[in-house]
Amino acid sequence: MDYEAFVEEKIAEIRRAVGRGRAINALSGGVDSAVVTVLGHRALGERLRTVFIDSALMREGEPESVRDVFAGMGIPVEVIDARADFLGALAGLTDPEEKRHAVTSTFYRKVFGDLVRQSGATYLLHGTILTDIEETVAGIKRQHNILAQLGIDPMAEYGYHVLEPLAELRKDGVRQAARVLGLPPELAERIPFPGPALATRIVGEVTEARLQLVRAATAIVEEELAPTKAFQYFAVLLEDKATGIRGGRREFGQIIVVRCIDSVDAREASAVEVPWETLQRICARVTSLDGVNRCLYDLTPKPPATVEYV
Ligand code: XMP
Repeated sequence: MDYEAFVEEKIAEIRRAVGRGRAINALSGGVDSAVVTVLGHRALGERLRTVFIDSALMREGEPESVRDVFAGMGIPVEVIDARADFLGALAGLTDPEEKRHAVTSTFYRKVFGDLVRQSGATYLLHGTILTDIEETVAGIKRQHNILAQLGIDPMAEYGYHVLEPLAELRKDGVRQAARVLGLPPELAERIPFPGPALATRIVGEVTEARLQLVRAATAIVEEELAPTKAFQYFAVLLEDKATGIRGGRREFGQIIVVRCIDSVDAREASAVEVPWETLQRICARVTSLDGVNRCLYDLTPKPPATVEYV
C-alpha cells in the first residue's frame, strides 16, 4: 500500500465529512489514537479538539509526556483530570468484568460523553483498526464501536457521527502511517497498552495506593525489558500476599508478577526467555519498592493464560 497516498486520502475524507463543523477525539498515547489525532489536525486544524483523559490508570508521567510530544508537533492536547471519577467507579470492585465495565462506562458515558456534549462537536474521530472489527465479529474481543455495545446510539444520544479513518489498516499499517506522518518513534513503535490501562494489571480492588505500586513496578519492568524488543512487557500486582523478611522483621507483603511475551497479534503468545541477569535485576529493583517482598516471572503461554490478568 502507498501510505503517503493513504494519509492524504484520509485527510481529505475527514475534511469533506466534517465540512465546517467541529470534531473531537480522545488521545490515549497509543499509536492508533496518535495517528488519528495527527490526521484530524491536518484535516481540521483547531476545529478538532483533542483530549487526553487522565483516568488515574495510566503509566508514570504518561499524561505529561503525551501532551509534550504533541505540543512538539504543534498539536494542542487538553489533559482532563478525571481521576476521581474513575477511582470512585472502581472503589470496592474486585470482579474483572465489573472492573472493566466500570472503566469503559465511566469513560464513555460520563467523562467523554460530557465533553462531547459540551464541545458542540458533531463528529467523533475514533482509532478503530481492522483487527478490532474482525475480533469483534469473531467474538474474541469486545472493543469495536464500544458505544453501540453499551446500547448508546451516538447520533440519537449525543448528536454526533463517528469517523473511523483507520478501519482498513492492521497494526503494522498504522505504524507505517505513523512514520509517514512524522510521529516520533516512541509513539510509532510503542508496545500495546490496553484501554482499561493499569486496571487490567491489578488483581482485586483498584485503589490509589495499589495503582501507585503497580505504576512504579511497571516503570522498572518497561525500562529493563525494552532491550528485549518483545511484543509486550509489564508488571502485575496480585491480590495475594506472602511472608517475607525486611530489616530483620517478618512482613506480610505484596507480590508483583513480571510478564514478557512474544506474539504476532496477541491472539497467541509465549513467554520470552529473558536473560537471568535481567530478571535478577528486575527482582532486586521491584522488591525494593515499599511493601513488596516477592517478584515472580510468568512462564504461561496464551492459551491457556491471557496476556493481561484482568
Ligand atoms: P488478552 O489479555 O485478552 O490481551 O490476552 C490481548 C491483547 O489485547 C490487549 N487488551 C486490550 N486492549 N482494550 C484494548 O484496547 C482492552 O480492553 C484490552 N484487553 C486486553 C492486551 O494488552 C494484549 O495486547
